Order: sequence, then structure tokens, then C-alpha cells
Amino acid sequence: FTVDWDVESASKGGYDHFMLKEIHEQPTAIKDTLLRRLDENGKIKLDDIKLTKEDLEKISKVYIVACGTAYNAGLVGRYAIEKFAQIPVEPDIASEFRYREPFIDQNTLLIVISQSGETLDTLAAIREAKRKGARILSVTNVVGSSVARESDDVFYTWAGPEIAVASTKAYTTQMTALYMIALDLALTKGTITEEFYFDMIEKMKELPAKVEKILENYEDIKQVAKEIKDKHSAFYLGRGLDYQTAMEGALKLKEISYIHTEAFAAGELKHGTIALIEEGTPVIAIASQERLYEKMLSNIQEVKARGAYVIAIANENRKEIEAQADRVIYVPEVDDILAPVLTAVPTQLIAYYTSLIKGNDVDKPRNLAKSVTVE
Ligand code: G6P
Repeated sequence: FTVDWDVESASKGGYDHFMLKEIHEQPTAIKDTLLRRLDENGKIKLDDIKLTKEDLEKISKVYIVACGTAYNAGLVGRYAIEKFAQIPVEPDIASEFRYREPFIDQNTLLIVISQSGETLDTLAAIREAKRKGARILSVTNVVGSSVARESDDVFYTWAGPEIAVASTKAYTTQMTALYMIALDLALTKGTITEEFYFDMIEKMKELPAKVEKILENYEDIKQVAKEIKDKHSAFYLGRGLDYQTAMEGALKLKEISYIHTEAFAAGELKHGTIALIEEGTPVIAIASQERLYEKMLSNIQEVKARGAYVIAIANENRKEIEAQADRVIYVPEVDDILAPVLTAVPTQLIAYYTSLIKGNDVDKPRNLAKSVTVE
């Protein structure tokens, strides 16, 4: 596999900012990451990944290690690998992993995620794990990057160059890659049927059009940005995979709008968080997980009763949520496990428009770098 990047694709292509351009490139980036890895029979071909059934049988420990947005993608990957391939996975932040003396031996698989492939902490984690005999499988966006070179197996995302500091299309393509890895591992291991495997691939093929649909509906999101721009804090709530979206949404908003944000597992509200809710506190409640929908609805009611201004991100079929939330942003319905690819998009747009209205430098937020090659 080679990935060609040209000068044209690195320009803003008519958009005001790289971030907005990159948000809009997601349907293509997801499609490319998926379709370029399907063979003529519609099966996933992982040319640069050579994990056999025998290799998999030997693996007793899997870590997913990354920083920032890539770590949040890793949390979704953990979910998919555990569910499909029935292998326990431990996610960790690279800067923590490298110093905590994790248990690693020759039967350890380290899955590393890095857009740039140059993040120092992530590289250090690879080197430490390799020294102890682990096998390294990386998901990266840059061909020939240090992470790619130092890994045993590589899955390249097909996002194209990402210039804005706030990562968007890298995130959704990293999740796409991790679903594919999870499905491939599961089929190799025999923990899913071929029918399930092909059904999931079909559902993944529908993601680009669904993302496109969310992108058309940005007027409501601009309104949300106006409503939250002067707030000191905003909270993101979710359960299950919606909690991972909450974490990534909170990161996106804080890094470019400078509003203090935090993500909470909605079930934890009662253990402290709810004390922070005051009249008008913005709460972005993600409620895409059908199997947890009713529980999430009760959490929305709990914060609403304490005066929160609730912005819900919910499936299109859940119109009744309008009675509970102050504002609702809809996403098309999809299998629960794939929902993070869709729910991420409104959170990216909320961050973008809030930063824009505040007059911040959207693409180059203060104090942050695109690639952190120092400790
Ligand atoms: C920086 C960037 C983030 C990114 C993180 C990890 O902090 O600003 O957007 O998620 O590094 O980068 P990587 O290239 O390893 O994915």
C-alpha cells in the first residue's frame, strides 16, 4: 500500500479553515479507509498485518496505547475487539503506559494508534513493549512514519493529510480501521460467523452517507455554539460507547474553544458530578446507544431537574427526546457499535462553530501542537 498526498489536497479547498475542510472530508476518508481494504469478494484484506490463527491463539494480553484523540479511538477499538473477537483488551495512555511497568511478554499484542506516527510517548511505549518481546500492530495515517517503521504490522488509515490541530477525520478513520481489525481478528479466531462479518461490513459501507447527512444539518449546531460560547464549563455525558464520544467531544471543545469541559459516564452523575450542575450549565448528552437509551433519558431528566441546559445527540427515531432536552441534534440510526463514527461529527461541529464565534484561531489553538515529538 502507498498513499499519495498532493499539494492541492493540503490546501483549504474553499473552506475557511482546515478543520472544517477535514470534517467535511470524513465521508470520503471513511470510504477510502474501508473500501481500499476490501478484496473482490468483499472481505477485509490486511496486507500489512500478518497475524495468523496460531499467532492469535498465543496472545494472552492485548493493550491499546495512544495519546489524545487517538486514545479515544482506542477506547472504541477496545469495545469492538472485546465484543467481536472476545479477547480482553486494556487501553492505556502512552505517557502512563511507558512508566507504569505494565506486564508484557512475548504473548502480548500492543495495538498502537497514532495519526502522525511521530508522537514521542507513543514511540517510547512501542520501544518499551518491543524490548520485552511484544508484537506491535499500529494504526497510523502517515506512511513511513516512525510508528509504522517500528511496528511489526501496520494498518494505514486513508484520511489524507490532517492539518488542523484538532483531529477529526483521523479519529473517524481510526475507528473504522479498528472495527476492521476487530472483525478480521474475530473471523480468524472463529468468534463470529461469516454472516455477521459481512453484515457488519455492509453496515460500515453505509457510514459515509450517514456522516454526509449529519454534515448537511449544521444550522442547529451553529445555534448551540451561540448558546454555549460564553459559558465557563460544559459537560458531556454518555453511557457505553456514547461515553467515549463524550470524552472525544469534551476534548474537541476544550482544545479549540477554551471552555472548561469534562466528560462523565452518565451513571456516575450521582457519585459527585451532579453537584456541578447549576441553572444554565450546558450538558451535551449523547444518547445513541439504543440498549442504554432509557437509562440515558433518566440521566437527562436528572440534570434537567437541576437546571442544566441540555443538548441531546440522539437517533432520528427518538423524536420524543425533544420533550426532555432543550435542543436535539439527530444522527441517522446505525448499529450501536458503529454509532461513535456518527455521534463524533456533531461534537466536532459544536467545537468548530464555538471556536469560530469566539474568534479563536480554530486551526492553531493556543499552547497546542499537531504532533508532540517531545516529552
Ligand atoms: C496532539 C494532537 C492531537 C492528537 C495527539 C496524538 O496532542 O494535537 O490531536 O490526538 O497529539 O497524536 P497522534 O499523531 O499520535 O495521533
